[in-house]
Amino acid sequence: MSLSYPVIKYDPSATLIPETGLAQADLDWIAPRLEAARAETLDDLALWQAGGAVPETKIPLDAGFMELPERLLNEYEQKKEASELGRIIAVAEGLAEKTDRIAVLGIGGSYMGARALFEACCHPYHNELPREARGGRPRLYFEGNNVDNDGLHGLIDLFRQTDDPCGIVVISKSGGTLETALSFRLFLDELRKKVGDDQLGDWVVPVTGDPSRLRSLAEAIGCKKDAIFPIPDGVGGRFSILCAVGLLPAAILGLDIVKLLEGAALMNERFRNEPLGSNPVLDYVAVSHLLEVRRGIDTRVLSTWGKGMEAVGLWYDQLLAESLGKDGQGALPLTAVNTRDLHSRGQQHQEGRRDKVITNLILQSQKYDSIALEKSDFDQDQLNELAGKTLPEIMDAAIAGTNRAYADDARPTADLFLPKLDEPSLGQLFQMLLLATVVEGRLIGINPYGQPGVEAYKRHMNEFLRK
Ligand code: PA5
Repeated sequence: MSLSYPVIKYDPSATLIPETGLAQADLDWIAPRLEAARAETLDDLALWQAGGAVPETKIPLDAGFMELPERLLNEYEQKKEASELGRIIAVAEGLAEKTDRIAVLGIGGSYMGARALFEACCHPYHNELPREARGGRPRLYFEGNNVDNDGLHGLIDLFRQTDDPCGIVVISKSGGTLETALSFRLFLDELRKKVGDDQLGDWVVPVTGDPSRLRSLAEAIGCKKDAIFPIPDGVGGRFSILCAVGLLPAAILGLDIVKLLEGAALMNERFRNEPLGSNPVLDYVAVSHLLEVRRGIDTRVLSTWGKGMEAVGLWYDQLLAESLGKDGQGALPLTAVNTRDLHSRGQQHQEGRRDKVITNLILQSQKYDSIALEKSDFDQDQLNELAGKTLPEIMDAAIAGTNRAYADDARPTADLFLPKLDEPSLGQLFQMLLLATVVEGRLIGINPYGQPGVEAYKRHMNEFLRK
C-alpha cells in the first residue's frame, strides 16, 4: 500500500530543559527499552493473528485494532460492495437517505470515537443547518451514555416534535451495558409509535458482538443479518474507532472513511519502520514516560488549539485513563481547548504544581477561508492596530506566546502538528495515540487492554437496583 498524505509531526524539543525537563541522555537511555516495547507490541499482533494460546499474563490480548486499517482496505479493494467497508457505506447511505435525525446510542469506547469524528469533521453547527447545507446528511445526536433523566427526556422530546421517524444506531460490544440498553428501549418505543412493528428493523442499525443480548433483540425486531455490524474479536471498546463503531456514524455523515483508514495505515507503516527521533509513536511515549519517571510529571495536558478537537481530546482521555490507569499506575490525561481554557486552566498550567506536560495539538491549515479583522470607524476597542491580521495568525501568536510563557518558567511543552482537521490526518492521529498507549503499557508492564476496574461500580449499582 503506497500512501502519500501530509504527515503529522511531533516536536518535543521544548521538553529538553535542564533541571525541570529532559536531557538527551534520558532519550538515549530509553531508546533500547522502547525498541523492546515496539517489538513486543508487534509480537502481540503476530501472536493474536496466529490464533494460538495466549500466555496468562497477556490476557486479554486485544491487539486486533492494529491490523484493522490494512485488513478493511484490502478487503474493500478486492470485494468492493461485498466487503465489510462496502456494507458499512451502503447501510449508512440507506439510513442517511431515509431519515433526517439519527440517535447514536453508546457509551465509552462505543461512543467517543464517533463523537470525535463528528465534531472534528462536520460543520460546527451541523445539526442547526438545513439539510442541503449539511450535504444532504442527517442530524446526529448522541445518547445512551448516561442514565440522566432530563438529558434523555430532552432528546425524546425533540424527536416527538416531528412526525418523521428518527433512525437509531445502537453500539455496544457486550450488548448488555445498562446505559445504552436502557436508552435503546426508550428510543425503540418512540420509533414503534411512528413506524409500527413490521418495519422497525429498517430504522435501526446495531453494532455489537456475537452473541449478545443486543444482537438477539435486533434480530427479534427485524434487523437484517447483514445490516448488524460486528465488533471484531480482539478489538476492545476504546480501540474500536476504526471498525463499524466509528466508521458507520462517520459514513452516515458522509465522511471519507477510506481516507480515514488510509491515514491510520500510514501511521502503522511509520510505527513499524521509522527510528526513534522521527517516529511519532515512539517519540511521544519516550517523552511522556520519561517526564513521568524522571520528573514526576504525571498530568498530561492535551492542549487542543481549536474547538473542533475537544472531542478528540476526550476520546484520548478515555483511551489513556482506561488503558493504563491500573495497578496504582497511569498518568492523568486532561484535555484543554485553547484559547478558551487559557482563561480557566491557564493560570494553573503556568504557575501551579510542576506535574504537567503540555502537548499542543496544532492545526497547520484551516478548512474555511481565513477571517481577517477589518478597520472600523468605531475604534473604541482599539483593534484597528490589528486590522489585516487573520484569525489563524492571531491563533499562531497565541500558541507562540503561550509556549514562550511556559518556556520562560522552565515548564515542558511539546507540539503535535496536524496538517488539517480531516480524515487522513485524524486517521494518523487516532492510530498514533492507540499505538502509543499500547507501547507505553508494555514499557511499564501494564496490560493496556481490558478495564477490570469498571466492573466494581456496575456490581454495586446492580446490587442497589435489584434489592
Ligand atoms: O473501552 C471499553 O471497552 C469500554 O469503554 C467500553 O467501550 C464501554 O464500557 C462500553 O461497553 P459496550 O460496548 O460493551 O457497551
